[in-house]
Amino acid sequence: MAEIAGHILVVGASSGIGRAVAERFAEERSVTAVARRTDRLADLAAAGIATIAVDVTDLAAIGGVLQAAVADRGPLTGLVYCAGVQLIKPMRSLGVEEVERLYKTNLVAPTLFAAAFGNARISTRDAVFCAVSSVAAQRPEPAIVPYAASKAGLDALIRGLARELAPRRAVAVAPGWLDTEMTQAHARLYGDAFKAELEKRSPAGVATVTSVVDAIVFLMSPQARHVTGEILRVDGGATL
Ligand SMILES: NC(=O)c1ccc[n+]([C@@H]2O[C@H](COP(=O)([O-])OP(=O)(O)OC[C@H]3O[C@@H](n4cnc5c(N)ncnc54)[C@H](OP(=O)(O)O)[C@@H]3O)[C@@H](O)[C@H]2O)c1
Repeated sequence: MAEIAGHILVVGASSGIGRAVAERFAEERSVTAVARRTDRLADLAAAGIATIAVDVTDLAAIGGVLQAAVADRGPLTGLVYCAGVQLIKPMRSLGVEEVERLYKTNLVAPTLFAAAFGNARISTRDAVFCAVSSVAAQRPEPAIVPYAASKAGLDALIRGLARELAPRRAVAVAPGWLDTEMTQAHARLYGDAFKAELEKRSPAGVATVTSVVDAIVFLMSPQARHVTGEILRVDGGATL
């Protein structure tokens, strides 16, 4: 594994990309995992990972989450923001609460995590803020317009943080479709026909959670010390 020192906070660590990121960094580093589902967090705690159960849409709680993590395991050298929700429905069917939840989870909460992360009491000067965006940010397809818009906002946040939080770095990965609980919740949409078609238009093969984690580990490593403000697409070339 590429070297990264210290303490990594992973937000949205109970499943999918976030869980895999927490487990990967925990092989060598101190990790704090944040999510809502306490049963999933208990599995991570059994592996020596510190856990904080919180709903990130409780925006007023975010500062306290970071303070508690730092008090427990020391200043952050990295934060990986993986929490995200997807909404697949036409604009005419959108409800107020679900749209509010989507933007709070995908954009407002990472903004507040980043604001607190920039504080010298919370993170080291060489710390890295990494977010999980999506290729949808650049390709807002019908039925996922608010999701795509939230990820486009997240990309702008990363580019802005790269300048304002320097010398800390800010980066993101933008995966295409991945087999996680988020997409498994739409099994009919992402069935065999979808997967066969995706395979055909992915010159480097369909990306996996492991390949996304590999990209995150690289971006957060000292080997990427001159990479900041970068949104790295990890989609096997499907959106070329
Ligand atoms: N799967 C894909 O095809 C794909 C493609 C591109 C980008 N992405 C992005 O990748 C990221 C991770 O998604 P995934 O695919 O790994 O799906 P996932 O398994 O559903 O993971 C989502 C994570 O976000 C957490 N989360 C959601 N709402 C939260 C809240 N209000 N408070 C705290 N934690 C919350 C969930 O934990 P709890 O439910 O326990 O709170 C879970 O740990 C998301 O940002 C997603 O947009 C996914």
